[in-house]
Amino acid sequence: MSSGILAIDQGTTSSRAIVFGADYRVAAIAQEEFKQHFPASGWVEHEPEDIWDTTVRTARAVLDECGGTSGVAALGITNQRETTVVWDRRTGRAIHRAIVWQDRRTADICARLKAEGLEPMFAERTGLLLDPYFSGTKIGWILDHVDGARTAAADGHLAFGTVDSFLLWRLTGGRVHATDATNASRTLLYDIHRGAWDDDLLTALGVPASMLPEVRDSSDDFGETASDLFGGAIAIRGIAGDQQAATVGQACFRPGMVKSTYGTGCFAVLNTGPDAVLSQNRLLTTIAYRVDGRTTYALEGSIFIAGAAVQWLRDGLGVIGSAEQTGPLAAEADPAQRVVLVPAFTGFGAPYWDTEARGALFGLTRATGPKELARAALESVCFQTLDLVEAMRRDWPHDGDTVLRVDGGMVASDWTMQCLADVLDAPVDRPEVLETTALGAAWLAGYAAGVWPDMEGFAAAWRRDRRFEPKMDGADRADKVALWRDAVRRTLSAG
Ligand code: G3P
Repeated sequence: MSSGILAIDQGTTSSRAIVFGADYRVAAIAQEEFKQHFPASGWVEHEPEDIWDTTVRTARAVLDECGGTSGVAALGITNQRETTVVWDRRTGRAIHRAIVWQDRRTADICARLKAEGLEPMFAERTGLLLDPYFSGTKIGWILDHVDGARTAAADGHLAFGTVDSFLLWRLTGGRVHATDATNASRTLLYDIHRGAWDDDLLTALGVPASMLPEVRDSSDDFGETASDLFGGAIAIRGIAGDQQAATVGQACFRPGMVKSTYGTGCFAVLNTGPDAVLSQNRLLTTIAYRVDGRTTYALEGSIFIAGAAVQWLRDGLGVIGSAEQTGPLAAEADPAQRVVLVPAFTGFGAPYWDTEARGALFGLTRATGPKELARAALESVCFQTLDLVEAMRRDWPHDGDTVLRVDGGMVASDWTMQCLADVLDAPVDRPEVLETTALGAAWLAGYAAGVWPDMEGFAAAWRRDRRFEPKMDGADRADKVALWRDAVRRTLSAG
C-alpha cells in the first residue's frame, strides 16, 4: 500500500492540495484562488460552490500527478477556521454564502450578549471571547435572515458546518456530517472541557442541536470519499483547523512549545498539554488537537495584520514593487529614524481586541522614505508577536522552551526572522518543510491510517532549515520596545 498522503488545505483566499511522500516531502502541489465577496462594510463572504470546486479541482490535479487514488493511503483536511456554512441536507446546497471568519456583521449580537452578562459563561466553557470572529453568532444570523430557515432547521433539514465539515459532507456524498475537536472549539458552542456541544450556549445563540456535526478526534475515521469523485475511494482519516494543523506540522507536541504562522495575519499557538489554561491576558484557550482520545490544549494569539502590512505598502502606497523587496529595503533603512507603524487597519486582535482602533504611523520626518516604511512594517509584525508571546508567558509561567517555530510566507525573509529573534530576545527556528499546515493534516491522516509513525516518530523527523539567534544589544531592544508600546497606547481607541 502507498504511504503517500493527500492533504486538502482550504484557506481564506485559496484552496490547495498537496501529496506528501513517506519522507514528508511535497510530491505534488496545486493551488487555486477564489473570489472574495464584500457585500457591505465589514462583511466577508465566500461562495460555497467556489470552495468546493477549487478543492475538487486541486485534489484531482495532484492525484493525476501521483498515479490516482492508489498513489495515496489517506486524506487529511485542514481549513480556514470559524467560517460558517449552513446547507440543506435534502439538496446538499448551502442556503447562504459562507460567512467568513473576518466578517464583523454580528458585532451587535456579541454586544447584546455581553450586556446580558453572558461573556464569562462563554469564556469559561469555550475558551473564547464574545467576538464576531467565531461561528456561533454567524449561524444565528443566517437562520434569522434566510426565509424559512428557522422552520427548516426546526424540522431537522438544515446542517451547520465549518469548512472542514462542509467539505467532508460533500466528499462523502452526504454520508458523513462530522467535524473534529479543533474546529468545534472555534464555534462558541462547544464546551472544550467536557468535549461536548453545550445546551446553554446553543440556547443563548438560538442554534438548534439538530444542525450540529458529530465531533471526532482530529486523527480518526471520517469515512471514504465517494468513489465517483476521484476515480476510487480515499479514506478520510484526519481533520484539523489550519492553525492547529500547523502546530502539529511543526511537531509542537510538548507543553511549552510555540509556533507562529505568518500569512495575511499571524496566529501564535502555545501547547499547554492537558491543561486548558483560562487566559488572564485576553488570549484564547483552544483545543490544539485530539489524538487517541486525549485532548491537548493551547493558548492562541491572533493578529489580523502581518503580511497584509506588506501588501499595503505594495498595493496601497505603491512604495514597493514586490513583497520580496521588503526585507532588503528594510536592511538599508536609516538607523537614526524612529518610524513606527501600528497596523491596526481593522482594529487590534489579541491581546488588545479593540475593534474601533485604526492604524497609525509615528515618527515621520522629511527624510522618511520607502526603506524606513518597509522596516516599520516588518518590525510591526515582530512587535505584535512579542505582545502575544509575553501574554502567553504571563498566562502560562512555566520554564519551557523559549524557541519559536515559524512558518508561512513571510518567514522566507532572513531580515524579518533576525528582527523577530532580536525583538523576542529568543531563538527563532525555521523548518525545512514550510508547508507545515498541510503536513499537519497529512500526519493526522497518515497516523490514523497506520502508514505514518506516531507523534514521537514524526517529531524526530522534524528538521530545521535555520535557527536565528538574538543579536541585538539589550538597551537598543528596550528602547525599541518602549517606542512600540507608546505607539500602541496612542493608537488604542480608548488611549
Ligand atoms: O482563524 C482564521 C484562520 O484559520 C485563517 O487562516 O490561513 O486561511 O488565513 P488562513
